[in-house]
Amino acid sequence: MNKNNQFGKQGWTPDRIKDLSGKTFIITGTTSGTGFEASRILLSKGAKVMMLNRNPKKAADTIAALKEKLGNTIDVTNITLDLGEQDSVKKAAAKVLEQVDRIDALMCNAAIAQVPTQKITKDGWESQMGVNYFGHFTLQALLFPMINKSRGRIVAVGSMGYDMGIKAIKFDDLNWDKNYTANDAYSQSKLAQIMSIFELQDRLETAGNTAVKAYACHPGSSRTNLINTSGSLMMKMIFGLMKLSPLTQPAENGAYPELMCATEPDLDQTAFYGPTGRSNWVGPVGPHYIAPHAKDKAAAKRLWDMSEKETGVQWKF
Ligand SMILES: NC(=O)c1ccc[n+]([C@@H]2O[C@H](COP(=O)([O-])OP(=O)(O)OC[C@H]3O[C@@H](n4cnc5c(N)ncnc54)[C@H](OP(=O)(O)O)[C@@H]3O)[C@@H](O)[C@H]2O)c1
Repeated sequence: MNKNNQFGKQGWTPDRIKDLSGKTFIITGTTSGTGFEASRILLSKGAKVMMLNRNPKKAADTIAALKEKLGNTIDVTNITLDLGEQDSVKKAAAKVLEQVDRIDALMCNAAIAQVPTQKITKDGWESQMGVNYFGHFTLQALLFPMINKSRGRIVAVGSMGYDMGIKAIKFDDLNWDKNYTANDAYSQSKLAQIMSIFELQDRLETAGNTAVKAYACHPGSSRTNLINTSGSLMMKMIFGLMKLSPLTQPAENGAYPELMCATEPDLDQTAFYGPTGRSNWVGPVGPHYIAPHAKDKAAAKRLWDMSEKETGVQWKF
């Protein structure tokens, strides 16, 4: 456990969030897990929440479930977005820009994980890289002008998986045409999400932009639908057993790091945030160690330049 946690022994908790009336949060993937819990907590503090989900029926059920918990007056809407299709991301971003006049934080929460066989998205990327990384890269770039105007934040929900697999971006075989494994490909997508946040910080600094802040965090090991949605039968069984052990925590706790990054004033951007207990899977939330490969400057610059080229989307700083 990190003894220097600035939020004390219990770590960061949502009690620290003040009234969020007048603030707008955009969050991807809220039909279950940490995204649902983060939305619920933001709404309970009076925020406006715009959810971005791929399945309209599930999104409607989510809104109904949130209203049942918090009452009909909460300000929650959904825009359909499939992160696995760049066209869908672009359409959704345009709708967001039409429908809100400020973005206090964009929370890049949605993901698929441990996809057992290599799948390629419509745009030509390995599915986890396409959904988790390229989908959010484009969304961030397109919403950036309004985040900038609002002096808002960009939050990437990564994973301790960034420190598993090959611990590098496989630039010469990004789609894993050779030696695909579910874990390597997932880990790469999560490393890319985290790396690009630190590169974004550098690019903001170079542009003299102090308005926008970018944060990288992860939920530890939380009891959500993640593996059930996209993992193999074996992974479902393994994670099903893990869920019964103290190596996992409730989805609500998994939402705390992203909520902290979206709302806590004066948070150090250069840190990595998540649970600080055993293996960083559970426990009090705060800043903790990040391995140097996640801050490899040459790789991050190459990743960013490649991503602008691959997506055809340019950031306008
Ligand atoms: N749970 C953990 O232990 C753990 C560990 C490390 C990192 N994480 C990270 O935590 C974040 C939240 O995951 P979770 O654990 O809460 O999992 P979850 O319960 O499965 O939630 C994932 C959300 O992402 C959505 N989603 C999936 N593919 C999408 C797409 N193509 N377009 C738009 N939305 C999509 C899902 O929507 P559908 O309902 O339509 O599938 C769902 O709402 C992810 O970034 C994950 O990588 C989780």
